[in-house]
Amino acid sequence: MRSHYCGHINTSFIDHEISLCGWVHRRRDHGGVIFIDLRDREGLAQIVFDPDRAEPFAIADSVRNEFVIRITGKVRHRPEGTVNPDLSTGDVEVLGYSIEILNRANTPPFQLDDEHVHDDIRLRYRYVDLRRPAMQANIKLRHRVVKTLRNFMDEHGFLDIETPMLTRATPEGARDYLVPSRTHPGEFFALPQSPQLFKQLLMMSGMDRYYQIVRCFRDEDLRADRQPEFTQLDIETSFMDENGIMELMENMMRDLFKQVLNVEVTLPIQRMTYHEAMDRFGNDRPDLRNPLELVEVSDLMKDVEFKVFSGPANMEDGRVAALRLPNGGNLTRKEIDDYTKLVSQFGARGLAYIKVNDAAAGRDGLQSPILKFLPDATVSAIMERTGAQTGDLVFFGADKARVVNDSLGHLRNQLAADRNLLEGDWRFVWIVDFPMFEFNEDENRWDPLHHPFTAPQSPDPEDLIKNPGEALSRAYDLVLNGIELGGGSIRIHRPDMQKAALKLLGIDEASAQEKFGFLITALDYGCPPHGGIAFGLDRTVMLMSGSESIRDVIAFPKTQTASCLLTSAPSPASHKQLRELGIKTTKSNKSE
Ligand code: AMO
Ligand code: AMP
Repeated sequence: MRSHYCGHINTSFIDHEISLCGWVHRRRDHGGVIFIDLRDREGLAQIVFDPDRAEPFAIADSVRNEFVIRITGKVRHRPEGTVNPDLSTGDVEVLGYSIEILNRANTPPFQLDDEHVHDDIRLRYRYVDLRRPAMQANIKLRHRVVKTLRNFMDEHGFLDIETPMLTRATPEGARDYLVPSRTHPGEFFALPQSPQLFKQLLMMSGMDRYYQIVRCFRDEDLRADRQPEFTQLDIETSFMDENGIMELMENMMRDLFKQVLNVEVTLPIQRMTYHEAMDRFGNDRPDLRNPLELVEVSDLMKDVEFKVFSGPANMEDGRVAALRLPNGGNLTRKEIDDYTKLVSQFGARGLAYIKVNDAAAGRDGLQSPILKFLPDATVSAIMERTGAQTGDLVFFGADKARVVNDSLGHLRNQLAADRNLLEGDWRFVWIVDFPMFEFNEDENRWDPLHHPFTAPQSPDPEDLIKNPGEALSRAYDLVLNGIELGGGSIRIHRPDMQKAALKLLGIDEASAQEKFGFLITALDYGCPPHGGIAFGLDRTVMLMSGSESIRDVIAFPKTQTASCLLTSAPSPASHKQLRELGIKTTKSNKSE
């Protein structure tokens, strides 16, 4: 139907007769001449219809935005002064000889170049939204990313192997999506939260190197970087330790950024321990473009009269930390109140601060509601340790370490965003030496920081059992610009260790056997040492495309409430379906 893509026409086509198909992006009537910007996947071409060709002119006059048309015509230079340097086809136009309406279109639900369309409208009419050049660019970028990753995997001997979608629960910390079984009434499959157990079984199957670009399902609270179904680049390899895996993955990232964005990633990627990340940034996925850092001041506060500080300073799991904002002295009362509200969302009971009006004037140069509670020596130690200068403001958090880290970590991000503090483009960092477990106070038990198959650094199960709170794991996360791109670990490959780890997590022998018996049994039949990693493909493409949300790099994403506005999924099932499945529902918001 067409000889070329609209977006490919340039001066090398001058005087050629061509045919194009696409959507009417815009139609303009200029003193008797009609211009149509015709759009396809590759871009826009300007078509001109003269009144002296009466029949095509009349049709051109009748088309409206988003009509699908086919034109033929001759390529010519645009007249001087009308060249559009912003457009790849901006030097040329097509003099239209014929035009055919392939399909008409209703007035679109929104203008394609409107930047402020409500997300719900975009998702309901996703096929229109996806026509927007920015969205087309994202989807194309995603394709290039996938292709580059597949090439890399193939070149390094990884086999693409599919794993089941109808399976058992895989514990990655979210709720499962369940699928009822008709042939086993009252029983359910779970959609995989990840292929974790299968990829380990593939190592036990001697496949040596596995990868898959695979959909994962997690019923969890959604955010800009979380979807209920999302895609992982999932990887597992035998006979390689964590250094080998991290090095290979760094090479993959370097190739990816070079080939897709022409960006040089300097290797090796920096490594930072979990503890250092928490101490300095309050967060295990620090954005290293942000120069602000938390400063430990617990030791300075142990004996001060201000209980808000001395309390946590003397608690085993307490922390008092400072965060200096250079030139923060100009923050208004209202801004400080807003930041106080922000940290309160993370459990902070206040946000103390000291304004430095004149660093040389000692205590008299400072302004703060808490100054009167702090002795001179403490004040000068704070000033020295934080490096506070005239014009700065120093914030303080005092509470359980978890609350201080959470609140000052978020404050740090917000301050950088509000005051444009980010430096540099791409800051990768590996986070290593994670604790194996974290104590869940609400449930009074240990939770794994990664999943229960992650190997501890000490190979002796006794060490794990004796001191679970101290045990470090052989896990690693790759963080880019404050977002966790991927995470993985060396796995437990010995049955005694696996049993010890499950026991610590409060999973008794019987339920371990029930849930993961197949894995534990497989460990007994010749399991190689193995490990792997999974990257969030959507997040990777989101960052590489400069998008704000992974929804902008997924063709058909779901809303905040995990529904699809385009197809109205989920939806009630018919009585007949439910009867066949042996299921009775107790409530539904939608009627059938
Ligand atoms: P993890 O749970 O860390 O590890 O997931 C790996 C990566 O997947 C991405 N990701 C998500 N992306 C979008 N929406 C979500 N809801 C979502 N959840 C996770 C993140 C994350 O880093 N089996 C292990 C990997 C392993 O140990 O090999 C796993 O799934 O980018
Ligand atoms: P108060 O004595 O409660 O009025 O608090 C004095 C100052 O300390 C105020 O600026 C509070 O915002 C701040 N503050 C109170 N509790 C905390 C806390 N847990 N961490 C940091 N600052 C706090």
